[in-house]
Parts: sequence; C-alpha cells; structure tokens
Amino acid sequence: MPATPEYLERNLRNFAGFCAGASPLYASLSGHVALDADVLALATVGQDRQPPANLLFGAVHDLLLAGRRHPLRDHYPSVGGTAGPNGAYTPFRDFCLTYADELRERISTRRVQTNEVGRCGLLLPAFALAWQQAGRRPLFMLELGASAGLNLHFDQYAYEWSRDNDGEGQTLGSSHARVRTETRGGAGPLPAAFPPVAGRIGVDLAPVDVTNADAIRWVEAMIWADMTERLELFRAAVAHARRRPPDIRRGDGLALLPELIRVAPPDTVPCVYHSHAIYQMDATWRTEFRTMLHEAARSRDLAWVSLEWLKDDPCPRLDLTVFRDGVGETRWLANGHHHGAWIEWRESPMAAPPDFPAGRG
Ligand SMILES: C[S@@+](CC[C@H](N)C(=O)[O-])C[C@H]1O[C@@H](n2cnc3c(N)ncnc32)[C@H](O)[C@@H]1O
Repeated sequence: MPATPEYLERNLRNFAGFCAGASPLYASLSGHVALDADVLALATVGQDRQPPANLLFGAVHDLLLAGRRHPLRDHYPSVGGTAGPNGAYTPFRDFCLTYADELRERISTRRVQTNEVGRCGLLLPAFALAWQQAGRRPLFMLELGASAGLNLHFDQYAYEWSRDNDGEGQTLGSSHARVRTETRGGAGPLPAAFPPVAGRIGVDLAPVDVTNADAIRWVEAMIWADMTERLELFRAAVAHARRRPPDIRRGDGLALLPELIRVAPPDTVPCVYHSHAIYQMDATWRTEFRTMLHEAARSRDLAWVSLEWLKDDPCPRLDLTVFRDGVGETRWLANGHHHGAWIEWRESPMAAPPDFPAGRG
C-alpha cells in the first residue's frame, strides 16, 4: 500500500531531526523535502516497511556516486563537493525531477541495507571479553545479518578509542581502515590485543557481494554524504574485503546457524553476533533464536554478542552472553552510538541485565 502524504511528511521531518548534528546537509534537505509534494511523491513507491527518507536520500546519493553530472555534486562532500548545505535544496529538487525515473526504479525495488564498520569499535571489546571468559580458545565468528561482511574482518582494522574526560586513549592494530570510538564512563575493558579467530562466516537473507560494484555502491549510498569519516572507513574496509571476500551464506539465520555452530571446529568457541539486525525480526523469531542458542549451548560452549537498538531503549545496547557447560551468563556491557561513534560503559559491566538480549522490543 503506498504511503500517505501525511506519513511521508512526518517521516521526512523525523529524519531531519535524526540527522541534526551529524549531517547538516541531510538535516537541511529533509526539512525542505517534507514540504515539497513533488519530491515527496517519489518516496511513495518504496516497498512495505522500508523507510522512505532513507530510500530517497540513498537513491539520490547512489546516482551521484555512479557519476551523474549535476550541480548538486557541489554540495555532496562524498563526491568532492565543498559548497556546504546552504543553497543545496534548489539543485537537490532539480536533480530529483530530472532523474525521477531512475530514482523511482531504485526506491521501488531496493531495500535499506547498511554495513557500518564503526560498530566494530563496540563489538571488538565484547569479542575480546568473550574469548577471555570462554576459556581463551580461538573464536569461530558467526555473524547474523552480515550484509557485505565488513565486520567479519574486525581484527584487520586499526582502532583508536579516545576518552571523553582526560584525552587519554588506547589504540590497537595498524591499517588504513581506522575505527575511531569515544569511550565514556571510564576506560572500560578495552582489549590490548585481538582475540584469536579460527574462522568467520556470515549469514544474511540478502548478502552483498563486495566484488559487485553496483551492489556495494548501494550500501555506500546509505551513508550520509557529508559524513566523510564514515565514508573513508567504509571505502577502506571494502578495498580490504575485495582482496579477501568474506564468506556469507544466503538464508535465514535461524535456518543456517544451528548447523554452522555444530560444525565449527571442536577446539574453537563459536561466537554468534549481530549488530542492528534483530530489529528486522519479529518477536517469535527472536524467541526461537534465543531458544536455538540455548539448545546449541547444551552441546558446546559458545558466546553471543548482541549490539542492538530495540524498542524503548534510548540507544543501542551491547550485551555479552557466555555459555559454559550449558550455563549462560549475560552481561549488559555498555550502551553505544548507532554508528559506533561512542561507547558508554555500564558502571558495573558485570551486572546481570534484567533480561536476555534480543528478546525485547
Ligand atoms: C541493518 S543491516 C545491518 C548489517 C550489519 N550487521 C551492520 O551492523 O552494519 C541488517 C541485515 O540483516 C539482514 N537480515 C534481516 N533478517 C535476516 C534474517 N532473518 N536472517 C539473516 N539475515 C537477516 C538484512 O538482510 C541486513 O543485511
């Protein structure tokens, strides 16, 4: 069913609020789009449950990244523009009307699909704790909702965790792909070394092939065009992944993961993890997923890392569950930023949470 004009206007206004601070360009453009019936009409053709604003801005960005020549480029830092957000709406509107057919084709057939490497700044400390707490055996990484699989290579990036209060920080690794994360609430359990990784496999309903230029450009187009640090990190991670394409199996995580857990080498600890994926599943799926992990843990030790932003939570939450000898212990380690810009350690990272991850919302 096509979205109503009222819904679209509200969606674009909310998007403008969401972008404020992080992306002055998109905050300004989406405020204008909310009042422009001609441009809003383009956003009506998206599939069910696909956020219209993300699709519209993604489609415009995709065409610019693909090389369309238009004055709008001057306002898009991702393609070299330096003009800033002021005065961007006139060329944005013209671009939308000029390329309306191509935009409609993308908006009506594609889904919002991201792969945010910055989240590794939050995931890695949890992986390192998982390794310590599961007996220091090599981890076998199994990512649910891996997208292009960029986060499966978490131990091949460089890290810089800065501290909000004293300017002190910690670094790890050396690579052109540099993950920068501000830590809040103390230094937290930051790793001094990468945990050993014995293998890595992703599962996704719609894997993105890093060697397919069109497919990977669509994922890049989801990044807000004036967030240049995010774009640089993404591009560096993609360049790396093209040399070592990640192993991502197509299918539903519930169907594929039990066997992948079972066949991981016996001297390893399967580490099942997911970031910003569980919100796409319904409550029944989540319950079955949790049950599946508890059942799998009867046969072998395993770790489960969840970085998810669910209903009623003010921000994403990082949980770690380690199952040893069939008994699981969950720790709510930290809260975090949705792109991975900061992590805020819980005062007592070892405190048990009120419920298991992935069961809420
Ligand atoms: C928003 S993306 C997040 C990607 C990545 N984890 C990250 O943090 O950047 C969510 C991914 O979950 C995948 N997904 C959704 N439902 C799934 C399911 N039932 N089984 C496997 N993957 C699923 C989607 O195809 C999508 O690639």
